[in-house]
Amino acid sequence: MMVQTRKQQTFLVTGGTGFLGSHVAVDLLSRGHRVLVLARGRSNSSASQRMEQLLNWFGIRKDQRMDLKILQGDLNRPGLGLDPRDARVVSRETDETVHCASDTSFSPDRREQVERTNILGLENLLDVVRESPCRALHLVSTAYVAGKSRGLCAEDFGQVREFHNVYEETKFRAEKIAAEHCAVNRITLYVYRPSIVYGNSTTGRTTLFKALYYPIRTLHFFQKLYTRDILENGGKKARDMQVLLGGNGVLHLPVRIQSSDECGLNLIPVDHFVEAFMAIRRGCPEGGVFHIVNPRSTTISRLADYTRRFFQLEGVRAVEPDEFLKQPRNGLELLFDSYIRYYGPYMQDRRIFENSRTSAILAGQNISCPEFSYQVFATCMRYAVETDWGRQL
Ligand SMILES: NC(=O)c1ccc[n+]([C@@H]2O[C@H](COP(=O)([O-])OP(=O)(O)OC[C@H]3O[C@@H](n4cnc5c(N)ncnc54)[C@H](OP(=O)(O)O)[C@@H]3O)[C@@H](O)[C@H]2O)c1
Repeated sequence: MMVQTRKQQTFLVTGGTGFLGSHVAVDLLSRGHRVLVLARGRSNSSASQRMEQLLNWFGIRKDQRMDLKILQGDLNRPGLGLDPRDARVVSRETDETVHCASDTSFSPDRREQVERTNILGLENLLDVVRESPCRALHLVSTAYVAGKSRGLCAEDFGQVREFHNVYEETKFRAEKIAAEHCAVNRITLYVYRPSIVYGNSTTGRTTLFKALYYPIRTLHFFQKLYTRDILENGGKKARDMQVLLGGNGVLHLPVRIQSSDECGLNLIPVDHFVEAFMAIRRGCPEGGVFHIVNPRSTTISRLADYTRRFFQLEGVRAVEPDEFLKQPRNGLELLFDSYIRYYGPYMQDRRIFENSRTSAILAGQNISCPEFSYQVFATCMRYAVETDWGRQL
């Protein structure tokens, strides 16, 4: 009797060296799929060497890597810069494409590069997979395509006219391009819109220390800088910034962060992102737009509280905007704000990301977003400090 086995699915994953792309690629691999990973080389390491390092970080044994093929390439080059043999593999074997690669810079100075990667890069990718048997495109977008919209942000392709930065704008445009391409070529499109993704909720492990991490990392940097100044160099810099070290070893950093209790960061751990991604793919064969978000945002006040507790700090707190009218920003606050200038709008986020479609799919598979408790925060920060914010990964 012939045993019918299901054909192994082949996924092309872009952004394989990135935070979300690597997690998705590894998860697909663990589910028995074949994975073609597009990755760039760097001047001192090839795409393969970079991916090998990451696979070691994930603890993937050599024998578990058999179904992974690394394709050295670059989205910004026609044909993705693939060598002809790799291009043939992609065009013959790709069943589904997961597009995670992106330029995630918010800086207006990088507009040209961000547009090139997020728009032209996507078009190059679509040109390549057009020739393949690919029947599903999974586009990893962001909840922040909502731009400067207020209130409830719908889980659909809405119209948005204003954005905080080039990243949001190009991600919004990319969704439209993908939608048009998929409609014309009869490809099922999944648009995943995660909010802010942090490390693993159980282990704290991450390879990316931006977004949630960046303002906290800045405060930790101030803590080290001024503690050293006080203990080793007479403390003049600290005095100039009104930074004091208490007898109990607790540092007073006078940093007020503009926000209010109606605002907050929408945070999801990477394990939830991957679990939700897989559940949506499995549970929704028709595709669509999916907000992968936390039903509860975390206020800046709570985040400041967690930060003070974990790092043994005083003085860091969230305040209403009118506080700054009564008492203008001090030197340290001006410095802090200049470090986090691109994140400012996210500290005052009042939006709610509607997610009834996604939550129905996730509820049907018993999946819920872990709470961003102090314990989860502390686990993530412990990992961040242990790895010197990724420098010692
Ligand atoms: N992390 C979050 O909080 C978050 C939240 C919402 C949405 N997202 C979305 O999730 C996706 C993945 O983001 P991430 O957090 O994983 O960012 P990431 O760690 O910075 O990864 C970005 C990936 O894109 C690759 N890439 C950039 N330009 C490329 C090019 N020209 N050719 C080939 N690859 C290129 C990078 O390669 P190199 O390693 O060579 O630079 C890297 O692998 C993005 O689409 C982002 O918009 C992320």
